[in-house]
Parts: sequence; structure tokens; C-alpha cells
Amino acid sequence: MTGDARRARTARPGPPGPPAFTEAQSKRARVRAAGMDPDYWYAVAHESELPRGKTLATRFWGHPIVVYRGADGTLHALEDRCAHRQLKLSGGEVNGCHLTCTYHGWSYDGDGNVVHYAHDLFGRARPEAKVAGYPVTSRHGLIWIFPGEPALAPVRTIPAIPELSGRRPWARLDASFTWQAHHSMIIDNVSDFTHSYLHRRFRPFWDAKLTRHELIGDRVELSYATHVGGGRLTSRFVDRRQVDTTSIELAFDYPYQRSDTGGSIKHWCFVLPMDRRTSRVFFIFYFDAVRIPGTRWTVPRRLLPLFMRVAGALVVKPLLGEDGEAVESEQLGYETHYAAPILELNPAVGLFQDLTIRKWEEFLDRDRARPRPSGIATADGRVVPSRHDSRHDR
Ligand code: FES
Ligand SMILES: [Fe+2]
Repeated sequence: MTGDARRARTARPGPPGPPAFTEAQSKRARVRAAGMDPDYWYAVAHESELPRGKTLATRFWGHPIVVYRGADGTLHALEDRCAHRQLKLSGGEVNGCHLTCTYHGWSYDGDGNVVHYAHDLFGRARPEAKVAGYPVTSRHGLIWIFPGEPALAPVRTIPAIPELSGRRPWARLDASFTWQAHHSMIIDNVSDFTHSYLHRRFRPFWDAKLTRHELIGDRVELSYATHVGGGRLTSRFVDRRQVDTTSIELAFDYPYQRSDTGGSIKHWCFVLPMDRRTSRVFFIFYFDAVRIPGTRWTVPRRLLPLFMRVAGALVVKPLLGEDGEAVESEQLGYETHYAAPILELNPAVGLFQDLTIRKWEEFLDRDRARPRPSGIATADGRVVPSRHDSRHDR
């Protein structure tokens, strides 16, 4: 028997796993394999995470991306690989407004062109080496990249949050996490209020009845009649004299998610699909009036930032941590039991999933028709998770 034949006879098939998007039969399997349309702006980090002269490594659906801030404060985003021997450029050094690879010192400008070689070229002409660059900007204290077709970047908009600017900006609370879970599980989680049992300690909402759910274009709108912010801790911060807390409006406004309670408590949730089982999620909560716990008075404006930090540490981050544990556990459960029967009771969840699947199909069709496909579809979200991932970022 030849070596090859022996290997073929003894080779065992690898462990089965959830199907890829193109092979998936059920809606659940399709949504759990779908990517997110790269032709939108995606938040990748808080601005404060990236000082001048530093790099930040991130990913979009498996594709490593380095964001760096030049000495003049300008942001740049490039493929996170050196065109020479594929080292991560995020391990390099920022010199002025260029990024220099740590190995042989090839230096890149903000568009990804190699502009300097720090070694002898052996009598050859200067190679025209380049890596891809991505549109990048900052808004709402977050850094955003546009991983898709750059020509579409100017026509896509980052959601406006007028309440956070002007003469009387609302109180704001930020939280972000990196969770080992598919992005669709996070969208299901943040808009599906059947999971109040998970939060029985904090009771941010309970007794929720879905009163409306509707798919309008690229947006799912839904409403619940519920009791918002009535738990032992959460009730201390909500001013019930001013805010109607008996219902909540939500939307999955693709690819972003948001809520509104009584026109006075709102949030946006921005999900970054890093790869098939890793997502970074950015929450911005904002409040029109915040009560001093145990009193009838609202918190003075100058104390709001401090107050929000305390509320974040005591209530919001532990509460969202419960969601993180749940979706990470759901991811592991799905990878083991992906063929188990599907028991989804909330009809709104079906709409989120329909929208995610449709948007991914539309992107795949557009991408196939492009002269140079993006590569995002073929990578299918596969990548080794970065060492820099952490469960609780901020
Ligand atoms: S690997 Fe980057 S310069 Fe050689
Ligand atoms: Fe939750």
C-alpha cells in the first residue's frame, strides 16, 4: 500500500460543524452563517483607544484591518498585513503620518502605498507595492471604517444623534464588549424582550408584550408594552414623573439597532462583525433626565459624566455582561447542536433574521458582479481570533 493510500484509508473526516451560508437549509443556519453587508460604516473602537502615533488592530468578517493615528491626529485604515512578508502592520511604528512595518522597515502612507524602503534594493527599480486602504472617520466618540466599496462611503451615513450635541446635550453612557458570538445572536438579543428572566437581578424590563413588528424596507420596527427600568437598582435612576416607562420602541435599522423609551431614554447599538464567532458591540445610551437615586431631584449637569460612570459600573455593564454570557453560550450551543429543531417563538426575531439574510444575499450578488470582488465573501468570516480580544473592553 502506498503512503498516500494508507493515509486516505486512515484519514478521519474532521468534526462536522454548522453549514456555510451557501449550504445552509434552515433560516437559522443561514442567518448564523451570514455576514454583514460591508457597504456600510462600522464602528471599530472608541476614539480614546487610539492616541496619536499608535495603531489599533481590528477585523471585519475575518479581514484584519489596522487603524492608526498619525502625528497630526489624522486617522488611517489599511489592511493589516505588510505587502512584503505579510507581517501585521499593527505591530509596526507610526512615523509622522506613515506606518512602518517592524521587520524590514517598509513604510506605508495613509492610502496603503509603500513610500519608503529602509534597505538596499539590490540595484532594482523601486517596487510598486501597496495594500488596500479603507475610508475611516470619527463620529459620536467612535472610530468608523467603511470596509466595502469605497465609492459608496460618501453616500452611506452614520446615524445622527442630535440629542448628544447642541446647547443642552443629554447625559450619555458608553459601553462596549467583544463577545464570542455571531452578530445575528446579538441583534436577536438586544431586541427580543422575552429574555427578561436572564436579567431577573436587575429587571431593566419585564412582562413584555410585543404590540407591533413590521419590516419596512431595510428596517424592522417593533414595540413592546412593558415596564422599563423598574428593578431595585434601575428604578433609582429613572425619573418616572417625567418619562413614560410603560412601552418601548425598537428598530433594527440595518445594520444598526436602537430603542426609545418615552422619548427620554434612548440607545444605539453598533455591532462590528469581526468574524464568524466574534463581534464587538458598542452601546451608546442617552438620557434626557436622570434622577439622583432616592430623591426627587435630577442630577446637575456638571455631575452627569461622573454619575454616568457610576451608573455604568453598577448597573449597565453588569447587566449587559449577562447578555454577553448568554450569547456566548448560545454560540457554543449552536456549534454543537446546529441540527437541533428550531423553536423560535418571537415573530420579531424571524424578521431580524430575514433582513440579515436578505442583506447578505444582496451583497453577495453585488460583489459577484464587481470586476474585482472584495474577498469578504470568500473569506466567509474565517480567521484566527486576535490576541488583543478581551471580553469586556470598556
Ligand atoms: S515583512 Fe514588512 S517590511 Fe518585510
Ligand atoms: Fe438583555
